[in-house]
Amino acid sequence: MRRFLIDTDTASDDAVAIVMALQHPDVHVEALTVVAGNVGLDQAVQNALYTVELCGKETPVYAGRAQPIMRTLETAQSIHGHDGMGDCGLPLHGRTPATGRGVDVIVDTILGSPGEVTLVCLGPLSNVAAAVLRAPEITEAVERVVIMGGTGVHGPGNVSAMAEFNFWADPEAAAIVTASGMPLEFVGWDISITSAIVTQERHDAMLAIGTPLARFGVDIAQAVRRFALEHGMEGDDLPDPIAMAHAIDPSVAEISRLNVKVMFGDGGQRGVMEVDRMGFVGGEPNVDIVTHYPSDHFFELLFDAYRT
Ligand code: BDR
Ligand code: CA
Repeated sequence: MRRFLIDTDTASDDAVAIVMALQHPDVHVEALTVVAGNVGLDQAVQNALYTVELCGKETPVYAGRAQPIMRTLETAQSIHGHDGMGDCGLPLHGRTPATGRGVDVIVDTILGSPGEVTLVCLGPLSNVAAAVLRAPEITEAVERVVIMGGTGVHGPGNVSAMAEFNFWADPEAAAIVTASGMPLEFVGWDISITSAIVTQERHDAMLAIGTPLARFGVDIAQAVRRFALEHGMEGDDLPDPIAMAHAIDPSVAEISRLNVKVMFGDGGQRGVMEVDRMGFVGGEPNVDIVTHYPSDHFFELLFDAYRT
């Protein structure tokens, strides 16, 4: 069994990614650590706890940072709904997280099993950057770090012309993690819009699966889907799930190893990935950037999870 630790600002597409990992026969999820991002921390914790319960698992969920490293949280509730889960009426309250702090759990889990833990990051990198600053030795002890963030080599951004939400929400954290020396694999928003759009046909195919998990995935995406269709997309996109697909099966991904820095200015620079596409002007390559992930393979993995 591969061992995953998932850091998440649980809203709709995070929840779908969590379902994919929890339901996969070859993956053991050690814990979920939650960070503020799409919604405030308390709501994200409740969303994560509900998702784990729906999957019938007992994976511990820990609360992490409630704010970015140096800035004030700006959520994405206008996209994911007020509760982050499409405002579709789920009972997202009253559950209790495990005792312990998310940042400590990241450090302890990685150092407790050197070379064995894959850290999958689905939200702003505030928890992960704090863990790196607290215990820099995790950078050598972690097996893989798969991050949904940035805009890869194709662009565009989803929160400004060139910035993607997770990096934009806590750009200082993204810059710290990117420069940390960890074995980084980035799956950017560009991959989500090229390979993970829920077209009408796929939407209907999900509904046809008919399981509670498939119904859940469709229902919680309804706010994002409405926004996407209103903005000329063919359907809602699934950035965290396609990052999880890559974490589960990297064998089909096309990858470029390049030098990446994250800019932490304000305005149009905030959270933008600076990528040395030529490979000779920016310094040593530090990130495996996924440049293509096959759409059919992604949806197969997702539908397999929904069938369980
Ligand atoms: C990322 O931001 C959030 O809205 C999603 O959950 C995903 O992690 C996409 O930019
Ligand atoms: Ca997320």
